[in-house]
Amino acid sequence: MPLVPTGELVARAAAARRCVAAFNVITLEHAEAIADGAQAAGRPVILQISENAVRYHGGRLAPLARATAAVAEASEVELALHLDHATDMELVRRAADNGFSSVMFDAGALPHDRNIAATAEAARWAHGAGLWLEAELGYVGGKPDAPASAHAAGVRTDPAEAADYVARTGVDALAVAVGSSHAMTERTASLDHGLIARLREAVPVPLVLHGSSGVPDADLRAAVEAGMAKVNIGTALNVAFTRGVRDTLAATPALTDPRKYLGPARTEVTETVTTLLSVLSAPR
Ligand code: G3H
Ligand code: ZN
Repeated sequence: MPLVPTGELVARAAAARRCVAAFNVITLEHAEAIADGAQAAGRPVILQISENAVRYHGGRLAPLARATAAVAEASEVELALHLDHATDMELVRRAADNGFSSVMFDAGALPHDRNIAATAEAARWAHGAGLWLEAELGYVGGKPDAPASAHAAGVRTDPAEAADYVARTGVDALAVAVGSSHAMTERTASLDHGLIARLREAVPVPLVLHGSSGVPDADLRAAVEAGMAKVNIGTALNVAFTRGVRDTLAATPALTDPRKYLGPARTEVTETVTTLLSVLSAPR
């Protein structure tokens, strides 16, 4: 079926007090595995391509984006295409021509005032182009002379500041720092569920959980229950993908055909997606 707008999936999830999972695509095999996993679970999903992934592909956005869109369009479940963690407005502008219906504009490394100005400008442009825009509240604590990522350990989003940020930027969704951290390969993060509930009360747009790979199943469920409407997962898929490659090559070191080890890697990712979707699918 045709790609579905991200905003529609998130709005529907939020209204139903559920979440929609957003999985990161790095290779074509990721896209295929995520679509297969979504289909197996019978759940809508957001396929997201990060600026880092675009950089990995030599700055070429169109090949991976269009291939991912084609994979999604061949699926029987609703899938959306999202540009993740974009810091470069030039890349954001290219998104609209390549199947994306949404962007996460990441000004988290900027000081608070500059974050607000840059994000408000990005939101104005995105809305003019028909794109839904997610942002991250960047400098929410820590040392004044060392702007920290919203996902750095120990940094938390303040509900009043978050409400002000949304009002001043006009973003459609807000990524908040509640205890998760990017790129964790062990599921040892501990979320502040009380803070999620307070943010849910204070912030008028859907909340987004980043760095969800490090969050245990029970905390993921509780985070959705407390109000997370979009849950971003990347590293867990890469752990699965690499396990598939490593185990296959360890068992048969003489292999040279990439299909022989990328196939098992893709299967591992599909199974991980299906499992995570079952964890996240419980109604709030
Ligand atoms: O934006 C992407 C997510 O925040 C992914 O985080 O790789 O730690 O799961 P993760
Ligand atoms: Zn993230």
